[in-house]
Amino acid sequence: MNFLPEAIDHYVVAHSEQEPKLLQQLTRETYQKVLQPIMLSGPYQGRVLSMISKLINPKSILELGTFTGYSTLCLAEGLHADGQIHTIDVNEELVDFQRKYFDKSGFGNQIIQHTGNALDIIPELKTSFDLVFIDADKPNYCNYFHLVIEKLNPGGIILSDNVLWHGKVIEAIDEKDISTKAVLDYNTLLKNDERVETVLLPIRDGLTISRKK
Ligand SMILES: C[S@@+](CC[C@H](N)C(=O)[O-])C[C@H]1O[C@@H](n2cnc3c(N)ncnc32)[C@H](O)[C@@H]1O
Repeated sequence: MNFLPEAIDHYVVAHSEQEPKLLQQLTRETYQKVLQPIMLSGPYQGRVLSMISKLINPKSILELGTFTGYSTLCLAEGLHADGQIHTIDVNEELVDFQRKYFDKSGFGNQIIQHTGNALDIIPELKTSFDLVFIDADKPNYCNYFHLVIEKLNPGGIILSDNVLWHGKVIEAIDEKDISTKAVLDYNTLLKNDERVETVLLPIRDGLTISRKK
């Protein structure tokens, strides 16, 4: 999803970093072999994730929603030399695909894959985090926030994807549309929760940065 006029978007992309070759390969193979390739973060948002991670230089990252590993590898680019990224996805069919690219990337030893429902796995993690990327099922975004805020270090960052939800956040609400309702509730939660300060960026489908005070 992209809210910018096309010409401006091209200019923005042309004056930003290019995606690494490995991520181009990963994208090609995702489009060839995996359902719903549109879920990939994509080149521009990927470079934004990489840049934010490099600015933070986190020792520990948590990602909810690995998919084929695109955003995992973008976030890994900023990891501290001794850092680790825990990434969770419920789809067990993607584990080997992810591992192939993680090992090719040089970050393989720093990436820990978890397969299962993030709601069950997060409470079992015995680590605190400097950076969390929330990009799994929208109806659980608020639940994810309540679970991860406890494990986020002071000054730690939560990045939340798809917070503009194709623009539906400003349209009339269909009561049956649970994802849109969930995103609306989530954006309100981030704005009002006193434990974080939040800025919603209109990047691609909306990316929020929330910093724990
Ligand atoms: C939008 S995709 C993630 C895209 C990925 N972050 C990227 O940028 O390439 C969402 C992923 O969340 C996973 N997912 C959905 N519900 C989940 C849950 N309850 N626990 C863990 N993963 C879940 C899906 O299997 C899917 O792979």
